[in-house]
Amino acid sequence: MKRRVLMLFRRFGLVGPAFRTYERAVALRPSRIRTVDGPPLPPRRLMVRVAGTADADWFLRGGRAAYDAIAAHISLDDANDVLDFGCGCGRVLRYWGAHDGTITGTDRDADAIAWCRGNLAFARLLRNGLEPPLDLPDEGLDLVYALSVFTHLTAGLQTAWRDELRRVVRPGGRLLLTVHGRSYLPRLSGEERASFDAGELVVRWGELPGSNLCSAYHPERYVRETLADGFEVETLEPEGAIGNPTQDLIVLRRTVSASA
Ligand SMILES: C[S@@+](CC[C@H](N)C(=O)[O-])C[C@H]1O[C@@H](n2cnc3c(N)ncnc32)[C@H](O)[C@@H]1O
Repeated sequence: MKRRVLMLFRRFGLVGPAFRTYERAVALRPSRIRTVDGPPLPPRRLMVRVAGTADADWFLRGGRAAYDAIAAHISLDDANDVLDFGCGCGRVLRYWGAHDGTITGTDRDADAIAWCRGNLAFARLLRNGLEPPLDLPDEGLDLVYALSVFTHLTAGLQTAWRDELRRVVRPGGRLLLTVHGRSYLPRLSGEERASFDAGELVVRWGELPGSNLCSAYHPERYVRETLADGFEVETLEPEGAIGNPTQDLIVLRRTVSASA
């Protein structure tokens, strides 16, 4: 949706409803139809919420590519207990059906979680609030991944969720994230770019935290100095998130001495 139109709605306090109407309109656009192997496709309105489009082909291929990117960066033999934080309607979760260990998905979107519960029987599904906590014990997970989730959180929520995800990952376990890095600089205004270049997190539409309209941009310095607190940075690959183009892919390893 055009920024100028959104600014107009913002003046009247209507930006949230306007954006939801826009997402519903996107869900009405025709898309390529294909036969689906595995779980059924979610309703189009749910696909739009995670992918920005209801194109089934993109949803499936993007989800598969994201799963493959995880498998390329993490030894899944060492990742028995896994959490998909911000799983939405299971774009990536749907590919974990053959996993030998446990797979949990969690999201704040009640409709998405209800759909996953009804259609991805191999996974455990939880709903969480905008803010922590998760209903999960300390240090019980080998891997948490959050694909295009920190991209929609305000500064306070970034650090709150970093701490919460660090709490649930075991020492030595991994947190894999995707973020808007330098490839998104052309989207930013001159002032926002200056903040980004100074190593500061840039957040737009912070009044709608957790929605796709709220967008956060992560300079490398912020990732290393703030997001990675209590972790070691194993990988920081610009545009490496092949299932979430053109986001950066980050793998953090929880330091063994970090307290939760
Ligand atoms: C762009 S979608 C990505 C969904 C999924 N990870 C994927 O790659 O297909 C962002 C997701 O983050 C979820 N989300 C945003 N804030 C959240 C929060 N505080 N806790 C859990 N999920 C959140 C949204 O509901 C949405 O499902």
